[in-house]
Amino acid sequence: ALRRPMIAGNWKMNGSAELAKELFKKFTAKLENDSAEVVLCPPSIYIESVRQQLEANKAQLNGALVRMGAQNVSQHNFGAYTGEISAKMLNDAGCQYVIVGHSERRRMYGETSAIVADKFAAAQKAGLTPILCVGESGPAREARRTFEVIAEELDVVIEKNGTLAFDNAIIAYEPLWAVGTGKSATPEQAQEVHAFIRSRLSEVSPFIGEKIRILYGGSVTPSNAADLFSQPDVDGGLIGGASLNSTEFLSLCSIAM
Ligand code: G3H
Repeated sequence: ALRRPMIAGNWKMNGSAELAKELFKKFTAKLENDSAEVVLCPPSIYIESVRQQLEANKAQLNGALVRMGAQNVSQHNFGAYTGEISAKMLNDAGCQYVIVGHSERRRMYGETSAIVADKFAAAQKAGLTPILCVGESGPAREARRTFEVIAEELDVVIEKNGTLAFDNAIIAYEPLWAVGTGKSATPEQAQEVHAFIRSRLSEVSPFIGEKIRILYGGSVTPSNAADLFSQPDVDGGLIGGASLNSTEFLSLCSIAM
């Protein structure tokens, strides 16, 4: 396939080093080198220990691609920003990916699209691949403003970074009404928006439009994943709740391939 499927687990403020141990125990038996690429995004304080466990289990992973990611990054390089973590620090800790612009950060921590665009830039500058989250609220969907909202969220990042920056990026479509609600988007709803995102990026660079991976996120479980992941423009998932259950998460990894 042109695009290797990806399953990224966003633990949010959940989990423990123990959870990683349990995951790797299951992974070593089941993952293969042709599996989906797996990204683990634990809370920052666990990145180091999860990465060490990943190293320790490498030989048993059958060549499967399992990588580390973070849930957030500062837009600044260094300095007096108490509590923040820079992209270079995440890179030092062994991360290859970082989620930027998750709706929880936009909604609860005042992250505007302009800040998200800066975080996207900071991540790339330090050699990380940003996983850019976009998505409309329930009321915006009801008002038929879905494409408008998504276009705005994308355009601010494009204006700051250029379309070519998406050569090294992942996009996650996460409708806010589907995040943590148990009410996933239908495969048709997801496909429609994914196709829109891809066509928007293709306008300037057809190559990037073809190549970029677009994940769906929002109440993905082993029971709805097969239909979602089989859509032509859905390249895997950004998984919240189900990433905390090692059996479900592993099953999502196999479904994505
Ligand atoms: O980043 C993950 C998403 O917010 C999805 O969360 O799978 O718990 O709905 P969820």
